[in-house]
Amino acid sequence: MEAESRIAPLEEVPDESTLLFRVEPADPDGDGDEREAILVRDPDSASDATVACWLNYCQHLTHIKLDKGSGAAMRNGEIVCENHGAYFEADSGYCTYGPCEGATLSEIEVSVADGDVYLTDDDYAFVGRGPIEDEANASDLTSTSNVEF
Ligand code: FES
Repeated sequence: MEAESRIAPLEEVPDESTLLFRVEPADPDGDGDEREAILVRDPDSASDATVACWLNYCQHLTHIKLDKGSGAAMRNGEIVCENHGAYFEADSGYCTYGPCEGATLSEIEVSVADGDVYLTDDDYAFVGRGPIEDEANASDLTSTSNVEF
């Protein structure tokens, strides 16, 4: 595993919340905009070393962040969007309840090795821990939603 793709020690991924970090597209011809992502433990896994990773944006209104900087809310193994109460399974990203029921969070590939979590998704490069500081540099996700009302 490449040291620059190391996101965090596995032990820092919380049990009932999320760990926030930043990625950017790996494609040099891409938009280059940073995006936020979250690590979450799979509560149903027998292994403590099973983590999932999702882009940090609700599928109802895709500019709304699930983890607003201090960890996403979780109930019974599901990530809760606090805006309108959508629930997403931590392990599959599938929305089981709420205005975007049936939608799925955007997955980012990660792997656990030697007690650390690494970004292994060819489409993204690791930028750093924590939220995007400069929102003007963030991807403009305000106009997209996969759900119409
Ligand atoms: S923005 Fe997440 S449920 Fe509406």
